[in-house]
Amino acid sequence: MAESEKHFHHGRSSKEILDANRVLSAIGLNEGDIFLDAGSGDGYMSLTASKIVGKEGKVYAVDVWEESVNAFKEKIESENIKNIEAAVADITQKIPVDDESIDILYMGNVLHGFVENNEVESVMKEIQRAIKQGGSFAVVEFKKEESTHGPPLHVRITPEEVEEIVKNYGFTVKEIKEVGTYHYAIILTKDS
Ligand SMILES: C[S@@+](CC[C@H](N)C(=O)[O-])C[C@H]1O[C@@H](n2cnc3c(N)ncnc32)[C@H](O)[C@@H]1O
Repeated sequence: MAESEKHFHHGRSSKEILDANRVLSAIGLNEGDIFLDAGSGDGYMSLTASKIVGKEGKVYAVDVWEESVNAFKEKIESENIKNIEAAVADITQKIPVDDESIDILYMGNVLHGFVENNEVESVMKEIQRAIKQGGSFAVVEFKKEESTHGPPLHVRITPEEVEEIVKNYGFTVKEIKEVGTYHYAIILTKDS
């Protein structure tokens, strides 16, 4: 499909309804880790991740939406943050990092959009390539129940549906946790 014809699932930041420290602690982010925020939006999760991974670690914030990436780049520069690299990229085409270089690849409120667009295969191939063996793919999604926030119920996906999707790409479920009023996290380990 031509780039100009493609539909990109934008959306609102989940900053007000998801506590970044709670999420990052639930998914096991540690000092020194290499973290990638796939579909990073306004970058609020990356900002908190950068404090946790510290100067020995690194954060990649990647989004297809140029405006939000540029605004985030300005913020990083103005706050003199050295361990975050923000980039514009369509992750169904290419995640701009080396093979097996990421300890935790985080995807918050994005995967259901790829399911809706039938883009799971292309994005999962890139995710599988980017994560280290034994590393984690951490998916955060809206619980599949009626709520005032979030996408329509019919596009939401359950943890079981996420598991079904990713098991074909060499991931095993490690944990499923509630991470907020509206959200769960499913942490998957890349098989060795
Ligand atoms: C609902 S927002 C979630 C943003 C952020 N993760 C959060 O929780 O606040 C979905 C994000 O995925 C991005 N996105 C959608 N399709 C994408 C693609 N093919 N490649 C990279 N980012 C994409 C959108 O631009 C948007 O910023």
